Amino acid sequence: MPRQPITQQKIAEHVQRLGDLYPPIPLGSVDRTIKDPRAVAAKFGHVIDYLARVELEVDRNVLELLCLLPDVDDTNKTFYADVWQPQEIQHGLILDRLQQDLGRTAAEPHLEVSFKIKILGALANLPAIQDVAKLLYFLTGASTERQAVLAYNQINTGLQELGETAITETIITPIKQQEPGHFAFYQMSATAMIQDNVLQPWQLYVARLMREKSYNLVGTIAMDRYKADMGGVIVDLGLNADLEGYAREVGRLEARLLWANRNGMEFPPYILKALRESVDLYEERLKREGA
Ligand SMILES: [Fe+2]
Ligand SMILES: [Fe+2]
Repeated sequence: MPRQPITQQKIAEHVQRLGDLYPPIPLGSVDRTIKDPRAVAAKFGHVIDYLARVELEVDRNVLELLCLLPDVDDTNKTFYADVWQPQEIQHGLILDRLQQDLGRTAAEPHLEVSFKIKILGALANLPAIQDVAKLLYFLTGASTERQAVLAYNQINTGLQELGETAITETIITPIKQQEPGHFAFYQMSATAMIQDNVLQPWQLYVARLMREKSYNLVGTIAMDRYKADMGGVIVDLGLNADLEGYAREVGRLEARLLWANRNGMEFPPYILKALRESVDLYEERLKREGA
């Protein structure tokens, strides 16, 4: 059965609804009670550090968007300016305060737009490349938001097991409620481009090639130290027990949209490769530190 076509109207309504349903979470709404800060820090301190940094980096993501999509339309503008950035920055501020309440150092977000993005941004002034950049931007958004949803689900369960109800009920649950709407926005936007055949076959070819060469897990920004940090997050959340299952969750959308489920593909191989690389870098770091 063909899916219902996704219209620009539907996407605009989705953005409107997200804005109405989910105002940014105020810092004052958080109950800062922590039953056992040492236990929370030991089990999830690293994960909270990572999430805080990545959420605070939303301001770099906005600069990247402006660089990649110089002709950004009204729906995209409303999404990033009125919904997404205001929500994400609060996630970052709340988690950053939590990490400090746990006795850890404040996050140091990486706010500089990379040279690679600037080059792609310069090329994106050509309309044909603009559409490729746009699809890649939406796929990146969908992939990172999906990873956020999965991470918050895992950490929520772990903190519930520790009995840290103030954190789960006033921090993780409200944040977790806002992420699926972000994912849905990127998913709908990418799906609409494919469904409407916006890209010529050669543009899709370029998009696949670039995706293969430049896929990054959330927050790793193509840097080894962040990749190793992400490996630690994967291990601490217990996701390494089934990396393929995790790759499937993260990669299902782009397997379908970008690769048309080529040869029964459930997820693009570069996703699993990135996960393995992160875990390997983390384990190497552990060995180095242990030595
Ligand atoms: Fe977030
Ligand atoms: Fe998000």
